[in-house]
Amino acid sequence: MKYLLLCFLSFSLSSCGGKEVFKNTKYPTGQNLYFSKCGGCHQIYDRDRYAPAAWDTLMNEMAEKSKLTIEEKNQILTYLKER
Ligand code: HEC
Repeated sequence: MKYLLLCFLSFSLSSCGGKEVFKNTKYPTGQNLYFSKCGGCHQIYDRDRYAPAAWDTLMNEMAEKSKLTIEEKNQILTYLKER
């Protein structure tokens, strides 16, 4: 959480491995989880960069890396696959 706050503070300097791509979403919880759980190792990828089916495959690997619970994984996936 502290890290996330620092990210916001230094947002204009575009640090923290790239800009976070905010979307209008019906699933803000999924979006928040995505930003907080998935931005630690690499940039936050735009969800439109991958097709919904591709996210399924990617998330199997990345959920493990992020040590997500099943519920967190599903919430992030729902957000990533929203179009
Ligand atoms: C422990 C570090 C770590 C965490 C946490 C992590 N990733 Fe990754 N991610 C990687 C590494 C390393 C790669 C590149 C190598 C690979 O594909 O395994 C990668 C690659 C990716 C790629 C593919 C990028 C490309 O250009 O092919 C996507 C998309 C991605 N991660 C999404 C996520 C999502 C979504 C989450 C959160 C659920 C997440 N990552 C959490 C380490 C991490």
